[in-house]
Amino acid sequence: MRSATRNLFAVASTLPRNAIISRALSARQIIDRDERYGGHHFKTLPVVISRGQGVYCWDKDGKRYTDLLGGFATMNQGHSHPRLVRVMQQQAATLAHTSRAFYSEPHGALGEYITNLTGYDRFLPMNTGVEAGDTALKIARRWGYRTKKIQSNRATVVFARGNYWGRSLAALSSSTDPPCYTDFGPYMPAFENVPYNDLAALERKFSDNPDICAFMVEPIQGEAGVNIPSKGYLKGVRELCTKYNVLWIADEVQTGLCRTGKLFAVDHEAVKPDMLVVGKALSGGMYPVSGVLGKSEIILTLETGVHGSTFGGSPLGQAVALEALKILEEEKLADKAAALGKIVQTELEKVPKDMAIEFRGRGLLAGLKLNPDFANGWDICTRLINRGLLTRPAHNYIIRISPPLIINEEQLKQALTIITDTLYEYKKEKKN
Ligand SMILES: Cc1ncc(COP(=O)(O)O)c(C=O)c1O
Repeated sequence: MRSATRNLFAVASTLPRNAIISRALSARQIIDRDERYGGHHFKTLPVVISRGQGVYCWDKDGKRYTDLLGGFATMNQGHSHPRLVRVMQQQAATLAHTSRAFYSEPHGALGEYITNLTGYDRFLPMNTGVEAGDTALKIARRWGYRTKKIQSNRATVVFARGNYWGRSLAALSSSTDPPCYTDFGPYMPAFENVPYNDLAALERKFSDNPDICAFMVEPIQGEAGVNIPSKGYLKGVRELCTKYNVLWIADEVQTGLCRTGKLFAVDHEAVKPDMLVVGKALSGGMYPVSGVLGKSEIILTLETGVHGSTFGGSPLGQAVALEALKILEEEKLADKAAALGKIVQTELEKVPKDMAIEFRGRGLLAGLKLNPDFANGWDICTRLINRGLLTRPAHNYIIRISPPLIINEEQLKQALTIITDTLYEYKKEKKN
């Protein structure tokens, strides 16, 4: 038995039944236990969240927070939306999992709904964003060999610099962010980068190399700190991909599903990628559901038997995702994000440049870039937590703002006031 497991059993044997999760540990003890038994994901802010409802979360001691991070732009429908909880419970009690070795009703129901909603022919479901991105790349390579007739093992995929699509070996192979890729080589071959928001560089790349099968790009780069391309970039990408017979894969895992004020961020320029990758809010944070949308002739390049996932397309995930999509539609969350995004912009653009050098945002996907001479994001986010706001920085200096889209105007304005008050207070502290 591994020692961590042995220790857990040793602790368990001294405690009453169910005590591992229910004994009254302090926040400090919970954090220490995490640090003792867990491996690392993100750097974690020192707060223990024990409950979420709508736009609010509560910590172990009952203190309430407004969630401005939204689970990294996942909780578009809010925490524990009653409709999602109901469907989750009903489906779990009826049929949670079969795998796609058999048919079950929710898979087709989600496929029908999401294709009608988006205008694509087919939806191939997976679980996490990175798996859906990887699936789109498999499709692109297959298409490259079988349709574009690229010579064996030469199909090349181009990515924008600053991209983020997860942490797998394939995803980090396309990354230009050293902490993401350093010491994980050797990297995936035939992955290349071009600068983001640079159509001339993209065209040079396409014209120099006839073996390019796909260009994968986020319509707004979320993890890079909410990089919004110039107007016309997405249209230009569409035109170049068509001109050079390259598949355009839009990674809308973060920007999709109403976050930026439209169903998809590509809708701001009324363009249609060849494949659209979705995840995160597709299940409102209840259960990981992701997938790839595309035309039949593209999605079906992966014929029966060459792709699969134990949980991809599960009844539980698909039933929850279907309800999550209906909520986005019925509660008009795209329109809400668009309207509230304007308030965020108006308020945060007022912050003087000595404190924040730039505001970036579209809809409710926004970032406030602190002046590095003033403060780093970690210090400010820790203070925001003390004042009842949850968020975290991107790339040290960018305060992320991606709350549940069900947030109302009053809640949002209160949150923005807390941000500006915190910045002014920090400034005063620094002076003294
Ligand atoms: C644009 C984008 N693509 C893909 C991913 C990866 O999603 P996941 O963490 O579910 O694998 C993310 C995660 O933040 C993302 O922002």
